[in-house]
Amino acid sequence: MQKNREQWNSKIGFILAAAGSAIGLGNIWKFPYIAGEYGGASFIFIYLICIAIIGLPVLIAEILIGRTTHRNPVGAFKALSQSKFWIGVGGMGVVSGFLILSFYAVIAGWAIGYILEAVVGNFAHFNTGSLAAEHFTDLVSDVPWILGYFTLFMILTMLFVYLGIQKGIERGSKIMMPILLVLLVILMVRGITLEGADKGLEFLLYPDWSKINAQAILVALGHAFFTLSLGMGAMLTYGSYMSKKDSVLSAALQIIILDTVIALIAGVAIFTSVFAVGLDPSAGPGLIFHTIPAVFAKMPGGYFFSILFFILLSIAALTSAISLLEVVVAYFVDDLGWNRKKATIVMGFVVFLLGLPSALSFNVLADYTLFGKNFFDLVDFLASNIFLPLGGFLIAIFVGYVWGFDKVLTNLREGAEDLFDNNPFIITTWKFFLKYLSPILIFIVLLHSLGVIDLIFN
Ligand code: PHE
Repeated sequence: MQKNREQWNSKIGFILAAAGSAIGLGNIWKFPYIAGEYGGASFIFIYLICIAIIGLPVLIAEILIGRTTHRNPVGAFKALSQSKFWIGVGGMGVVSGFLILSFYAVIAGWAIGYILEAVVGNFAHFNTGSLAAEHFTDLVSDVPWILGYFTLFMILTMLFVYLGIQKGIERGSKIMMPILLVLLVILMVRGITLEGADKGLEFLLYPDWSKINAQAILVALGHAFFTLSLGMGAMLTYGSYMSKKDSVLSAALQIIILDTVIALIAGVAIFTSVFAVGLDPSAGPGLIFHTIPAVFAKMPGGYFFSILFFILLSIAALTSAISLLEVVVAYFVDDLGWNRKKATIVMGFVVFLLGLPSALSFNVLADYTLFGKNFFDLVDFLASNIFLPLGGFLIAIFVGYVWGFDKVLTNLREGAEDLFDNNPFIITTWKFFLKYLSPILIFIVLLHSLGVIDLIFN
């Protein structure tokens, strides 16, 4: 099996695919509203620090495990440790792939559905945010609507994974990522050229330190994790198709820069527009589906820009979903000897079945809750707030303490000899962050998710 394992055709192919995984709903939907809610520039500042001290070190660690072993998360830990515990950590990554994709694809389905809403001109009469919100509620209560777009999105995701690393994922990313960037820049230019855009820029860029509290810092830490697709082996799996000739360090840095720049541009595009038309910026999670359609209704050229916006959102979600399914498929291909096509179809279908109760959580199953959460929220919470930080914490511990740091350094040096031999400082810093800062901070995020921190402070 190892002999014929695929590789990326080029380094840029890998960077774009990994950036595609990182850049997703997290950047375009979540980042702008949390930045807005927690004090704009001050939050962005804290977020950048989180990216640097936990995002970058863990991203390097994940890609490195993948590139060293050329395996999926389970196979990778098997190759490096043999211990059941660590293989279990890889297994948790594969399970997270199933779980996250199952609800992520539901929201992504709305994004696709909204392209059509935009095309048929349904946003035109939304002169208030509440009309747009009502329309959203109507749509998600409509079972055929929600299931139809969820299914369509899953089929699209499966198509790229089915076609394989070079022909599917790499080629798709090379086409979709530049389109995403161009669309986003167009929307940003539209935003900043609107009258009153400066108020949006001020909201996003004026630091309000009074809003920075423990909660804001924890949100920034947690988001740094989700936005970089860390903690479940997506970057590990993409790294496993990387050639040893390419530098893990420079790849990780480029992925992080792309992800961060895109989140910032999305923030500018969204807030300049929201403020220019005088809508409420702190609409929270509903910002994209409640507020944005009303923003376009009021904006000159809004018909056209609304279509671009939802195409952008769908592409961002698709390239992330592909990486989630790839983790699952890689496991069945590497470790159980399935062929890629069969693994994609069967596992895509399993994810689809798992996603059904999530899709139905907005309508027929809305009243079924556990701990006050419906099925959708439960799966999201379990995967994003527990499994990802737990996985990231354990990956940092594994690379920092278990693998053997000499071996780690020898592997890391491959493909980055120049940088490595001439900048010992970079390596020492990475080691320090990975061994000490990252695990502690990630652990705190985990305690926060579990409610332990709130218990202590209240
Ligand atoms: N990084 C993606 C986003 O920002 C989400 C994701 C998480 C993708 C984990 C893959 C793995 O939307």
